[in-house]
Amino acid sequence: MKILAIETSCDETAVCLLEANGSITDTRYHIQGNALYSQAKKHATFGGVYPSLAKREHAENLVPLLKVALSEAHLFIQTKTPFTTETLAFVRATLTREEHLMQAILETLPHITRPPIDAIAVTIGPGLEPALWVGVNFARVLAHIWNIPIIPVNHLEGHLVASAVHGNPNTPSEYKLQPLTFPIIGLVLSGGHTEFVHIHNWGTYTALGSTRDDSVGEAYDKVARLLGIPYPGGQELSYLAERGRPQLYKNDVTHARHPYPRPMIASGDLDFSFSGLKTAVKYHIQSLGDAVDDTVRIRIATEFEEAVAEVIVTKTLHALEQHSVHAFLLGGGVSANTYLRTRIEHALTKNGITLHSPARGLSTDNAVMIGMAGYLCHLRGAHMYTSLDEIRAHGTLSL
Ligand code: KG4
Ligand code: ZN
Repeated sequence: MKILAIETSCDETAVCLLEANGSITDTRYHIQGNALYSQAKKHATFGGVYPSLAKREHAENLVPLLKVALSEAHLFIQTKTPFTTETLAFVRATLTREEHLMQAILETLPHITRPPIDAIAVTIGPGLEPALWVGVNFARVLAHIWNIPIIPVNHLEGHLVASAVHGNPNTPSEYKLQPLTFPIIGLVLSGGHTEFVHIHNWGTYTALGSTRDDSVGEAYDKVARLLGIPYPGGQELSYLAERGRPQLYKNDVTHARHPYPRPMIASGDLDFSFSGLKTAVKYHIQSLGDAVDDTVRIRIATEFEEAVAEVIVTKTLHALEQHSVHAFLLGGGVSANTYLRTRIEHALTKNGITLHSPARGLSTDNAVMIGMAGYLCHLRGAHMYTSLDEIRAHGTLSL
């Protein structure tokens, strides 16, 4: 089955072409075309994602990215198939609020041969609703023009599936879904989410706990900003933390340690809270005045990451006490963090549990994971929509 996947839930615009085959016990994926544009630099001046800018950027970039993905898949074939009056009316009615996207579609789509695609998988939520709508409306228009059904995909399921596929270093565009024994515990750590989920099977989830305020990614980005690292600073902050780690437990600096709070570490449930941690870092930095040189920045980053790791590992162990599982899926942008991954893996291994985490490039938002999750929706008989008015974006969609 050939799937065109679209992701626009936050500040990454992504389009991918995926060939998916096999049953649920033997699912194989082949990425044929993959185009991704990160708007992060554009949002950096605002210190975070600015929804109306995200919406405009998605609208401007979807068609160029579609062209790239189709070209990579050798499916970009030019032709002349003018829109019928009815199609033209549909495009205009659907994209009244996405002017740039409408223009790009009117200029481009009548000149592209219909690619041999069986379904369009699109993220319908959760995420920034104006951003999600651009992707949803793009999918609806393509579905109408090419007469292809739509598979609505939950972004969080995309993150979980991305951690359950394993690649082959010799054939980097090929992935295989790991055979898993359910139930499993999943943990999504991203810019928008910090959520434990009990996975009874693909498509059947129970939420176990989530953040009550900031997500872990937001905490990373906000602390990074306090240290002068531009948005999204999570990764760079973790590089700083890495540099300070060898010093952390050395006797000569122990007296200078400034351990931050571990919010909700003893709450007994699987919820998180990260805004207090960020505030503690903020007050600490303020108290230091001009004394924040590079050595201090490194130490702050290390202490911050230590606090985050300890909370996440403790909660992970709680989750394992409460639910007997053999495997654990760790997904989302923050799961790219080597230190957190190692700490979680260590805790799991001691309990005989296997950690599955995303391959490089599949941790942060992308369209590949949406196509992969879309195929699993198809395999479990989820509805493929041909009635396009029924597909809507849901900013607060849960699993
Ligand atoms: O999953 P994602 O791309 O977007 C959402 O669905 O929200 O996650 C983005 C988040 C950002 O907050 C970014 O700073 C963080 O993931 N991130 C990291 C690392 N790489 C990305 N945080 C900590 N360490 C990293 N290595
Ligand atoms: Zn995400």
